[in-house]
Amino acid sequence: MPRRKRAALALVTGALRGIGRGIAYALADAGFDVVVNDLIDDAATAETLATLRTKGRAAFVAGSIADLGGHPRLVDGAFAAFGTIDCLVNNAGIQVKVRGDVLDVTPESFDELLAVNLRGTFFLTQAVARRMLAEPRAAGDPPRSIVTISSANARIVGPNRAEYCFAKTGLAMMNQLFAVRLAEADIACYEIRPGIIRTDMTAPAAERYDRLIAEGITPIRRWGEPEDVGRTVATLAARLLPFNTGDAFHVDGGLHIKTL
Ligand code: NAI
Repeated sequence: MPRRKRAALALVTGALRGIGRGIAYALADAGFDVVVNDLIDDAATAETLATLRTKGRAAFVAGSIADLGGHPRLVDGAFAAFGTIDCLVNNAGIQVKVRGDVLDVTPESFDELLAVNLRGTFFLTQAVARRMLAEPRAAGDPPRSIVTISSANARIVGPNRAEYCFAKTGLAMMNQLFAVRLAEADIACYEIRPGIIRTDMTAPAAERYDRLIAEGITPIRRWGEPEDVGRTVATLAARLLPFNTGDAFHVDGGLHIKTL
């Protein structure tokens, strides 16, 4: 008897709102069952899970990606929810609390940003990758991938958020390191660099971004939406680009293009 095909299973960090939620919804629309991670179980959790459950199976695992001691529980919870994980989406991240001159960056702000955006993301990826390599695989199992949401600031200098830029640049190298290490196991790794996306993170700077977009900073003159990032993640996680790994994909309306 041929083995029945099972649904692909994804873990998305920081997925209760914003880009993470857009990614979770897009993966669910593409047929994934989704394990959602975020800091706390609140009203946003119920809303996100209820929407996901209209599309497929969904589960929630609380935990901070910055808490390395909590990673075993987070990873165990995610793998136990539906039996395994085929796709990890590293989305959780924070912005600097106070934007300012690179000359004024404090060690506290530096450590806080890197603890979440780089250290936490790296060690969670390491824990999930180790677990993926140890999982039994059967013919017909969905293809596997690790998708990391960095930022346009992996390349474009944000003079008033140096700590954020450092962390996101580190993720660009992390993606390539895991791509090289995991290719043999057919686990593809991708980096996504979103541009200006409408979420709570960008809300404090919305007026400035409205103006810059109107002035043409992005050839496609509109805000990006979480679903724009979600559609790209779903395409990559479905492994529709089978000969790619380690690549960075811009989801930014052309923000990265320099013109003269
Ligand atoms: P957001 O602030 O709207 O949502 C982030 C989510 O991550 C929240 O639900 C939050 O609770 C969760 N989170 C924060 N720290 C966490 C931790 N330690 N462990 C687990 N969950 C945690 O942010 P947004 O805009 O949705 O950003 C998502 C990712 O996309 C971030 O990595 C961000 O740096 C990146 N990004 C965002 C852009 C934008 O324009 N909004 C542009 C480029 C990158």
